[in-house]
Amino acid sequence: MPVIFHEKTKEFHLCNKEISYIFRILANGQPGHIYFGKRLTDREDFGHMIEYARRDMAPCAFEGDSRFSLEHLKQEYPGYGSGDMRFPAFELEYENGSRTTDFRYKGYAIYKGKRKPEGLPAVYVEKEEEAETLEITLEDGLTGVQIVLSYSIFGTYPVITRSTCFYCKRDRVTLLNAMSGCLDLPDKDYEMVELAGAWSRERHVKVRSLEYGIQSIYSLRGCSSHQFNPFLALKRRNTDEHSGEVIGASLVYSGDFLAQAEVDNFDVTRLIMGIHPNEFRWEMEAGERFQTPEMVIVYSENGLNGMSQTFHRLYRTRLARGKWRDMERPILLNNWEATYFDFHEEKLLELAERAKEIGVELFVLDDGWFGRRNDATSSLGDWRVNEEKLPGGLKGLADKINALGLDFGLWIEPEMVNKDSDLYRAHPDWVFADTRRNYCHSRNQYVLDFSKKEVVDYIHGQIRKVLSEAPVSYIKWDMNRSFSEVFSNGMDRRHQGKARHKYILGVYDLYERLIREFPDILFESCASGGARFDPGMLYYAPQAWTSDDTDAVERIKIQYGTSYVYPLSSMGSHVSASPNHQIFRRTPLHTRANVAYFGTFGYELDLTALTEDELEEMKRLTAFMKRNRSLIQKGVFYRLKSPFEHNSSAWMVVSEDREEALAAYFRVLEPSQAGFERIRLSGLERNWKYMVREEMAGESPGDYYEGEHYGDELMYAGLSMSDTSAGLPDIAADRQGDYFSRLFHMKRII
Ligand code: DGJ
Repeated sequence: MPVIFHEKTKEFHLCNKEISYIFRILANGQPGHIYFGKRLTDREDFGHMIEYARRDMAPCAFEGDSRFSLEHLKQEYPGYGSGDMRFPAFELEYENGSRTTDFRYKGYAIYKGKRKPEGLPAVYVEKEEEAETLEITLEDGLTGVQIVLSYSIFGTYPVITRSTCFYCKRDRVTLLNAMSGCLDLPDKDYEMVELAGAWSRERHVKVRSLEYGIQSIYSLRGCSSHQFNPFLALKRRNTDEHSGEVIGASLVYSGDFLAQAEVDNFDVTRLIMGIHPNEFRWEMEAGERFQTPEMVIVYSENGLNGMSQTFHRLYRTRLARGKWRDMERPILLNNWEATYFDFHEEKLLELAERAKEIGVELFVLDDGWFGRRNDATSSLGDWRVNEEKLPGGLKGLADKINALGLDFGLWIEPEMVNKDSDLYRAHPDWVFADTRRNYCHSRNQYVLDFSKKEVVDYIHGQIRKVLSEAPVSYIKWDMNRSFSEVFSNGMDRRHQGKARHKYILGVYDLYERLIREFPDILFESCASGGARFDPGMLYYAPQAWTSDDTDAVERIKIQYGTSYVYPLSSMGSHVSASPNHQIFRRTPLHTRANVAYFGTFGYELDLTALTEDELEEMKRLTAFMKRNRSLIQKGVFYRLKSPFEHNSSAWMVVSEDREEALAAYFRVLEPSQAGFERIRLSGLERNWKYMVREEMAGESPGDYYEGEHYGDELMYAGLSMSDTSAGLPDIAADRQGDYFSRLFHMKRII
């Protein structure tokens, strides 16, 4: 039984083979946290682990008792008004202005499986036996407001999911803060790992030691953002990629979020995560409920790789959905960096023909196909084809692309409008800003008010029409700006505090409708590259455009950081032109491919401007990806050496049965008189012998490294990245110099 309840002690123990999560109802009726970590043997009473203290000045709950104080007790879902001085997990305001709460245990329910929170993305089960859920109901006696804390534990994952539901039974109440979950940890000896960046530099790994006070990351941009990701890990100081303890927390949400670690002055660490309370104000009438998004908490004693591998498996198979979840992803050509807005059907067909020649399977038409959109100043909102560019319409083009043997994919940006559009001219009040004031544009565009159902309905009608009229098999759903001055025109005060969350619910609603109506379409989410690369989006779109930065060297860091939470099957990664369009770096084609392989793989450059030799090489790259994409997209990923700490870096992917693997090594700058370097591999079977073959865009075997090695040698002694080709007369130019990379395929032979 994964959820054990001990009636006498009122203790709950959620456990599977790997983890235990334990709490009990305290003397004051509130749930107090006891333990989260590696599996403990169950017992009826873990009460001795609850740490009380007699401290002068502490607010105490019971007359005559100076030890029971919520100022230092660890709790499950702390509020304001019962002695806890730390940042609360929730805050309410009653009609009389009081924010004091006293929520006490009312009862519990345990059931098999896991329920889907309405309107929100969440991790799911396919069979009820996969997980068990515990719901704890708390009630504020004075007002009747109830809180239901939901905990799900999976049989085979070291994972607890948490979410919270508020229920207003009679007295009106306003929610000012409603975190998804809280975890009070026993000490402060942690380092906080976060993913931070900017446009074109997303999800760089940052690590800092926890100190007294609050350390947090957040988004107030309306999307999960380029700047931070809704993820935070707390690791022990000696934890590295391969060993040591770490707790990872991830929020299944795409809007404003807060992820925070607070260390109090008695060395307790409180981790909370949820919708950012700023500008959140949810008024509730009798009978109404509010459901928070889901927080996914992973425990690993096998370092950061262990944590990531759990996230990958869970998110790839129990968060992503639909036909494409388990299917190999098509290799695509996207025309954006090939043409930008400057294209016509003829040019697109030329590109498609070349794409077909090099083995591409899907042609994606990016921005600029609709209205009068020849630059970024107009037409968002007018989802009608531009017949000057595409005289036969989308259908005409798609049919021709299909006739070449390629599928057809399309870019849309449904949440946005330009002032120069028929939509804006008809509905200026649909802009998500106080239109009586000056409000900011970003890339000349404005956010549509998706907190209003009529707006979502209208856009739904437009996009459904587009998708019904042409054979579209893939959609890239973009979102190219942050919120700046949110206001929902024509709506009352009550709506304004809900508008930002309702916006995201509107986006989820539109995704859900389109997915239902077009179940065969592969959706890729995008937000000026990676501004909405989050678990919420993965529930609707199994892959996401990782970053607008397609430079191979930058991408090593971006993909390395992204892999902390997200599986390779979710990372859009393309080979683009050299010099690169974002940072103008020149990198060898095979290095661009060696990075892009570790994702969904595609091309994004003008194939008509390449030489025959380059196209021949690309044929081999595509063929290589086709042979290996199942391994890449479904294998177990290991980070081996960090690009954030070294000039060289490495990662690898191993098939679940350990029979096959692919390892990549990257060295950014060529050092003078380079030292020798061996990379220790991971995840192989120590007694098996593997044939290790260096891959160099399909060049003939023998030119590059080939040798037989046992798994233990590869893992404990390492694979040499230095020149071991003593027999070769010359060192080929592409085996030295800056932006150098090597790729090794391993296959079990004995
Ligand atoms: C931002 C995306 O990230 C790019 O790939 C491209 O689709 C542009 N938008 C188009 O406007």
